[in-house]
Amino acid sequence: MSGILASIFALILLLGNGTSAYRCQNVTITIPKTDIGVIEIIDLGYANITTAEEYQISGTLCLPNSGKPKIVQLLLHGVTYDRRYWDFPYGSGTYSYPKAAVDSFGFATLAIDRLGTGQSSWPPTLETAPNQQVATFHSIADQLRKGRIGGIAFEKVVAVGHSRGALLIEYWAAVFPTDMDHIVLTGWYRDVDITTSVYKRFYSELVPVGQVHPNMEAPDSNYVTLSTEDARISFFFHSPMYDQ
Ligand SMILES: *[C@@H]1O[C@H](CO)[C@@H](O)[C@H](O)[C@H]1NC(C)=O
Ligand SMILES: *[C@@H]1O[C@H](CO)[C@@H](O)[C@H](O)[C@H]1NC(C)=O
Repeated sequence: MSGILASIFALILLLGNGTSAYRCQNVTITIPKTDIGVIEIIDLGYANITTAEEYQISGTLCLPNSGKPKIVQLLLHGVTYDRRYWDFPYGSGTYSYPKAAVDSFGFATLAIDRLGTGQSSWPPTLETAPNQQVATFHSIADQLRKGRIGGIAFEKVVAVGHSRGALLIEYWAAVFPTDMDHIVLTGWYRDVDITTSVYKRFYSELVPVGQVHPNMEAPDSNYVTLSTEDARISFFFHSPMYDQ
């Protein structure tokens, strides 16, 4: 009996010692051509975009070290970010969403670079419109349920979005409501008025990606990002409530 207690105690010490009980791996998900260009969202003016290629979506899949999770959370980042938004490489896990969701609660998480961002495919900008984004989510949810990503056939898919990721989940849920079992929308509200001065200021700070990241080659000049770190801080962080 005391042997078991001692082992449990040792295990707790081990976990409490910074050894995590979850693991992450980078994955590349192919979105087949048959899954692309199939959705029309006419009221947005993005109808029937066709594409020559399949897409590759880069993601990070995190799983608990033990047990087989039934639920996966698909994490969709906001504008000017990529999947690192969910696990900032800063502060040894202080800002890690997977650390909380996977380590503490036993969910699986899959954070992706949305089409046209990070390490995923960068097609011409017209192809990164909401209907193509939704087409990639639809394909990924299907692949998650079929066990094609990470080898686990998940029973439930939870769509978790931040800001534009949340907006895109609204479109996704409207077109394919049975793709997701739950949705979590953060940093977003319904009545955003993009004509207000803060948005005008935001747009005025956007520059072609190549100006900020000379090593990143965009297919056209509509690929933009924020001009400076100061601009990012002024739009997305609330001084002095952030670490730097
Ligand atoms: C995933 O790829 C990124 C960038 O290429 C790298 O920094 C990170 O360590 C990789 N993560 C894992 C779990 O291998
Ligand atoms: C898009 O394609 C569908 C199916 O082929 C067609 O019914 C629809 O009229 C097309 N929409 C536009 C705006 O071209």
